Amino acid sequence: MYMEMEYLGLLQKFLVVFVCCALLWKIIRYLLNLLNMEKDPVTVLVTGAAGQIGYALVPMIARGVMLGPDQPVILHMLDIEPAKEALEGVKMELIDAAFPLLKGVIATTDVVEACTDVDIAVMVGGFPRTEGMERRDVMSNNVSIYKAQASALEKHASANCKVLVVANPANTNALILKEFAPSIPDKNITCLTRLDHNRALGQISEKLDVHVSDVKNVIIWGNHSSTQYPDVSHATVTTDSREMSVSKAVSNDQWLKTEFIATVQQRGAAIIRARKLSSALSAASSACDHIRDWVLGTPKGSWVSMGVYSDGSYGIPAGLIYSFPVTCEKGEWSIVQGLKIDEFSRTKMDATTNELIEEKSLAYSCFNE
Ligand SMILES: NC(=O)c1ccc[n+]([C@@H]2O[C@H](COP(=O)([O-])OP(=O)(O)OC[C@H]3O[C@@H](n4cnc5c(N)ncnc54)[C@H](O)[C@@H]3O)[C@@H](O)[C@H]2O)c1
Repeated sequence: MYMEMEYLGLLQKFLVVFVCCALLWKIIRYLLNLLNMEKDPVTVLVTGAAGQIGYALVPMIARGVMLGPDQPVILHMLDIEPAKEALEGVKMELIDAAFPLLKGVIATTDVVEACTDVDIAVMVGGFPRTEGMERRDVMSNNVSIYKAQASALEKHASANCKVLVVANPANTNALILKEFAPSIPDKNITCLTRLDHNRALGQISEKLDVHVSDVKNVIIWGNHSSTQYPDVSHATVTTDSREMSVSKAVSNDQWLKTEFIATVQQRGAAIIRARKLSSALSAASSACDHIRDWVLGTPKGSWVSMGVYSDGSYGIPAGLIYSFPVTCEKGEWSIVQGLKIDEFSRTKMDATTNELIEEKSLAYSCFNE
């Protein structure tokens, strides 16, 4: 009898251990599954995808440079009829590259098809100013392009679609898009000044002979044009594990206030002179940086520059798309507040503000044409 009870007790213990192990194994498998589970694909629209920025940008997106190495993507590529064959060629190359993250590609000249179910829209297609063209003609062309694309995005894109305008005049094209897509929240429409931000980081890192990742918190204020104000008054550099202000490290105010600013402002023109083509790989890479930080967040203690809808911060009139220092968290940007603005900076910020006010009124005057 006693033996039997001991035997039953042992069996009970064995069963409890067995059930616990089975449960534990189930939990481990569930967690492993969670880790390996593929995310739902994000649909990214690139307009002007047959152009040179488009050609550099789409493989970056398909490789996970924009949204991360574990984020599958579906690419929608839009261009116009004359570029249709070239666009098909880009699609063939994307298929040939066999990108593991690329779950689908649409190449189209139909705006509605391109905008349908889009989560992120990178607007690269547009009508840039070429030599001898009247500013008004350029603006009028962009108004009609962005009016049509804004309506298509508003009607057919995902509800929380994030928009990045790259095509010049980038700030004002973004404003036109905002005007013609009133139901897209202001916070979801931005323009690219990250290239200028990265150029400023690059110039400081060259000057100090440090790696570019050791420099942070430069600011591009205003328009993505030669009136932009690259500001290093709040920037820092880390050398030998010590962080110090860029002004102190450079120790040459004259250079920072003249040559540095002019180099960043004129970098686009310098690249055109050298390449006989405008910047493409750096623009594509910066567009990825812009979206990545917006979606995944900026590192703690760092900010980036983004062209965003002004709320009146730093005395910049509300209603302009103006480049500000921003931090991003959980898919939302916020303008960095409380930075001290000296006399020199204020003059430069006002100059670029005035240009944007003028561009805005030119754009609005084309609205009813
Ligand atoms: N914001 C920035 O930092 C920045 C930097 C570099 C270039 N840019 C601007 O980006 C834009 C693209 O530059 P790129 O070098 O790729 O030019 P690109 O001429 O090589 O390509 C532009 C593409 O847009 C297409 N396009 C024109 N109208 C369109 C429309 N209505 N819908 C869809 N596609 C259309 C063209 O067919 C072409 O394939 C230009 O406006 C350029 O000035 C901005």
